[in-house]
Amino acid sequence: MNPVRVCHVEELDHDRPRCYRVNNVDVFIVRHWATIYAIENRCGHAGAPLHRGEYTDGLIVCALHGAAFRVETGEVEWTAILPPPMSEYSSSDNPRLRLFGELMEAIETLPVKRFPVTVEGDEVYILMP
Ligand code: FES
Repeated sequence: MNPVRVCHVEELDHDRPRCYRVNNVDVFIVRHWATIYAIENRCGHAGAPLHRGEYTDGLIVCALHGAAFRVETGEVEWTAILPPPMSEYSSSDNPRLRLFGELMEAIETLPVKRFPVTVEGDEVYILMP
């Protein structure tokens, strides 16, 4: 793994996530008190940008279908929810809606990639493969 500089530590406000593009990867970064977490900024459900979601106390909830991930580990806290009418598409009489509904129901919510973070001086680095 190679350390790659991301930003200056003062750019990160407590519990205010940011997104940085690092080596062509969008990285979600949040500082919680003295600890900084970095995960891929791509939802493990259907790939929405996680920094557009709701962040609270170590948990990022995706804005698109509500899947939630722990920023410390990238693990799934809860899976995506398809709200009505999307949850009813798979039983629709319309074949195109039915296919869309079946596809949406088949998408798993997977963990997101986590990147180890180091701070040297006032510079934030993440370790990338
Ligand atoms: S894309 Fe994030 S929950 Fe569906």
